[in-house]
Amino acid sequence: MSFNSFGHVLRISTFGESHGPAIGCVIDGCPPGLEITAEEIRAEVLRRASGKSRHTSQRREKEDVQILSGVFENRTTGTPIALLIENTDARSKDYDEIKRQFRPGHADYTYWKKYGIRDYRGGGRSSARETTMRVAAGALARKWLQQKFSIEIKGWLAQLGPIRTDEIMEWDTIDDNPFFCPDPGKVAELETYMDSLRKSGDSTGARVNVVARNVPAGLGAPVYGKLDAELAAAMMSINAAKGVEIGAGFESVAQMGTEHRDEMTPAGFLSNHAGGILGGISSGQDILVSTAFKPTSSLRIPCRGLDIDGNEVEIVTKGRHDPCVGIRATPIVEAMMALVIMDHVLLHRAQNS
Ligand SMILES: Cc1cc2nc3c(=O)[nH]c(=O)nc-3n(C[C@H](O)[C@H](O)[C@H](O)COP(=O)(O)O)c2cc1C
Repeated sequence: MSFNSFGHVLRISTFGESHGPAIGCVIDGCPPGLEITAEEIRAEVLRRASGKSRHTSQRREKEDVQILSGVFENRTTGTPIALLIENTDARSKDYDEIKRQFRPGHADYTYWKKYGIRDYRGGGRSSARETTMRVAAGALARKWLQQKFSIEIKGWLAQLGPIRTDEIMEWDTIDDNPFFCPDPGKVAELETYMDSLRKSGDSTGARVNVVARNVPAGLGAPVYGKLDAELAAAMMSINAAKGVEIGAGFESVAQMGTEHRDEMTPAGFLSNHAGGILGGISSGQDILVSTAFKPTSSLRIPCRGLDIDGNEVEIVTKGRHDPCVGIRATPIVEAMMALVIMDHVLLHRAQNS
């Protein structure tokens, strides 16, 4: 009964806490022969890292990736790949006051109810620090998918608070700003909004979209292994995720059948409201997934909470926090997309080739 692993043929298990000595993962089932270096994985991990701009948490981790096993002479060997990253910039003192308190919006209360013990430092296991290892594992999956099938996975910030950010898509500029915003014309507005938010001490939510291109038709399985169900589960497992849409998603509610169904012609589909998946199986169209992230819960604005004895207490969160967690979520949703698709390529190969 372990829920620290996911995937079927390509199985990822992560371990570690926010303020423990290190975080890590074991990647089992990766085919042999993929060329990979610790530096390549680190480059991907650094895209998600905090401390790169004033708009994210100022925790600055070195993110030095150590490959402990499964890679020999820069090529995967087919044996379990163990990756480790030491935590080098944890400030556990910031969390002394919440030792006996449950911060609203956090996992403090539920972990306590479930386990009767919790590592309160930086949220312990419930911290998004864990997602670093998803991105590390995702670096291998992205490279493998690219090399074998030319599959490209690209994520972007679609909305931050009230600001819609993807009405103009300049794909090549997404990595050029600290928001993963595809519209360079919106970056100044985002900066102003985030500066005023930081001053006010409040936080905001965000929507992050991701597309996988060149995915062959036939991935996924009927009923319990539907590709859309697996992707939704993967995205919902990310910290602070509150909603997932595939293709037209909740907009489908207001659509007519004549509009939603994606008509087919010898030249291809005429639209993609399905988000590239029909009956749980990829159709060969782009796979489109959108994830909603809630506003950061840790705020310096006081709020009411409980301590472990059930007393009402005023809670003010210290420490270094992301005023909008969605800003750093783009590389994480990309990684989850890559890991799920690679897993399904391997599953498909096992059953059908
Ligand atoms: C990239 C990323 C960074 C995050 N950083 C923070 C943070 O600085 N402060 C905070 O309160 N929550 C942060 N979160 C969200 C919490 O980890 C999460 O809300 C909390 O563990 C409760 O889990 P839940 O929201 O999934 O229910 C972050 C989430 C992500 C994806």
